Amino acid sequence: MRLPRSVEEAPVKSKRVLVRCDLNVPLEDGRIADETRIRAALPTLELLLERGASEIVVCSHLGRPKGHDPAFEVAPVAARLGDLVSDDRLRVLENTRFLHGETENDPETARQLADGLDLYVNDAFGSAHRAHASTEAVAHVLPAYAGLLLLAELEHLERLLEDVERPFVLVAGGAKVEDKLGVLKELGGRADTVIVGGKMAEELRDENPLDFAVELPSDVVAAASFAEDAESRVAPFDDLPQGWLGLDIGPETRARFGELVRGASTVFWNGPMGVFEWERFAEGTKAVAEAVAAVDGYTVVGGGDSVRAVSELGLDDEVSWVSTGGGASLELLEGKELPGVAAIPSA
Ligand code: 3PG
Ligand code: MG
Repeated sequence: MRLPRSVEEAPVKSKRVLVRCDLNVPLEDGRIADETRIRAALPTLELLLERGASEIVVCSHLGRPKGHDPAFEVAPVAARLGDLVSDDRLRVLENTRFLHGETENDPETARQLADGLDLYVNDAFGSAHRAHASTEAVAHVLPAYAGLLLLAELEHLERLLEDVERPFVLVAGGAKVEDKLGVLKELGGRADTVIVGGKMAEELRDENPLDFAVELPSDVVAAASFAEDAESRVAPFDDLPQGWLGLDIGPETRARFGELVRGASTVFWNGPMGVFEWERFAEGTKAVAEAVAAVDGYTVVGGGDSVRAVSELGLDDEVSWVSTGGGASLELLEGKELPGVAAIPSA
């Protein structure tokens, strides 16, 4: 794999540096539900401060707002970052997705972001699969370098593309189905076993466009409505009561998925098995997290909710690499070039 040049090579002393981070953390009622991505951004920011950058302008997207939306203002994230790195050379810009032209990768938007700054460091691995003005176009406006997190992610994930120790088990789940189905198609071929839970499993049950078999749930925790306190019961995966929703994998499926994972030597896991943010529908995701942690091999977890499950259970240290990228890690493992990486000159 081609590695982009590192921020460690950048002449940062007395320079004004634009840093694109992925601070797209889960928010609940305006509170940060998991700060993994904020903490992961620190090493690069600390390096820039230590090496004498005169100004560090951090930018990130947050959520998927359509234009300006107060619910997605960057303030809570900026405040937390400010607690962790208190240095008045550092400031955080408002949500990049409030900018007209950001998601269109508009060069004019990139020029505005770069205005008055000398260098660009991309440390937003989680957004590297997006060709947006703050991840791609801007790398053509300022001299561009890769941040420490971005590089560490590439190095750890690349190991899964080499000769892995088998069995190699891939576990996929989550709700952003449209983001994942395409990459699952390609990635699944590398694995010995592909386990699918969460909302994605329902689509594959109705129509499996993959040319390999996948392990799907056999039972689910079904709920009468999409609500935290909804009436719920365990039901067969393919025979839910009329109008009910499967919000987690059931106990039989938890046991089977857990056993398949524990038998692996290499695991890549992306996406929760259910509505993990609601305690009553979190058991399946927890079971997978515990099984991954129990593997004595190379284990990689990616994607906001799966990472959150691992960290809430205090299992971070039991996993070889906790990736800050969901879609980005999937696309990388598919063998796709990530636009945010490709835009940075080579090492
Ligand atoms: C993510 O959380 O997947 C990344 O931050 C990218 O966000 P996006 O999927 O909304 O582009
Ligand atoms: Mg995503």
